[in-house]
Amino acid sequence: MTPEAPIILGIETSCDETAAAVVRDGIEVLSSVVASQEAVHARFGGIVPEIASRKHAEVITAVVEEALTEAGVSWPDLAGMAVTQGPGLVGSLLVGLSAAKGYALATGLPLVGINHLEGHLLANFLRFGDAEPITPDFPLVCLIASGGHSDILLMRDLGVYKILGWTKDDAAGEALDKGARVLGLPYPGGPALDAAARQGKPTAIAFPRPQVSGSFDFSFSGLKTALVRHIQAAGAPDTGTALSNVAALSDIAASYQEAVVDTLIRNTTAAAKRFSAKQMLLAGGVAANSRLRTKFAEAGRKLGIPTHYPPLSLCTDNAAMIAAAGHFRLLRHGSDALDMDAFSSLPVAEHV
Ligand code: KG4
Ligand code: ZN
Repeated sequence: MTPEAPIILGIETSCDETAAAVVRDGIEVLSSVVASQEAVHARFGGIVPEIASRKHAEVITAVVEEALTEAGVSWPDLAGMAVTQGPGLVGSLLVGLSAAKGYALATGLPLVGINHLEGHLLANFLRFGDAEPITPDFPLVCLIASGGHSDILLMRDLGVYKILGWTKDDAAGEALDKGARVLGLPYPGGPALDAAARQGKPTAIAFPRPQVSGSFDFSFSGLKTALVRHIQAAGAPDTGTALSNVAALSDIAASYQEAVVDTLIRNTTAAAKRFSAKQMLLAGGVAANSRLRTKFAEAGRKLGIPTHYPPLSLCTDNAAMIAAAGHFRLLRHGSDALDMDAFSSLPVAEHV
């Protein structure tokens, strides 16, 4: 890093987190502010898009100002701005995009639109607190698992991606969230399932490890059905009702989570082997899962491929990853026009 290394402000509002961050040289996180709407949506058991947009609008300015203050920088110190353009909830994305365009007009700073999934991937290369960044070694394979995506990405260089596998139905995070709901665990389901699973035996119930033959793609909807059937057979009064027997609940949670984790790792390691990956990375909210982190590192050791995943706070949605992606995109492509749009679906690359 040089003293004149560019400083980028990132803005992220694709789902239910209003986030802003300041990143120097595409790597060093000077601040990362995340205002979560989790408590607001909890009583609905899921994200209500209209409420999400309104909440973003209420706090976006304060979140951006806090990110600048925490980083100890002001507008003239910035070299540019990056904002998530998609995929995500369009109403939510538009709040971030409109704010970023307003700041760009007022300051004259260049602005780039970023694919949220590229941001998740690049979170692996950030320096944040004690977490030392890794240097990418190409080709590398990254599993991006979140509430809306389960993509296995091949990265041959910065900005050069191919999707090797994606989900045919539910995303991994969605499968975990729905499983948690079926088990009567509190919202948000993924972290609650992770916590419940820690008390249980992952081998207690043999849930299927779904396979889409001849590809690295995923399909998780059958696994969810297997869970519902198991609970009904076990005599639970209804789905969505917490099982009275905590030990049984923990065993089911651990076994179900294990099936999701094993399936994710099986396809990712197969893709890494096929493409002679020099690194295997995890990214996205599901990369915060403790069992996935442990088993992924084990799988890498067995294969002799170095593994890496971001610190927990950079796995779930944040704006530091968007600022990092913006840094490299500005260098490669320059800024985007201020009439750029938001996209609910925005493929990060082509599926091969
Ligand atoms: O990347 P993210 O924050 O938002 C999206 O882009 O979707 O990912 C959210 C997903 C949710 O499905 C959430 O349940 C899951 O990440 N998640 C976890 C954990 N923490 C977050 N899933 C399993 N274990 C966790 N510890
Ligand atoms: Zn995300």
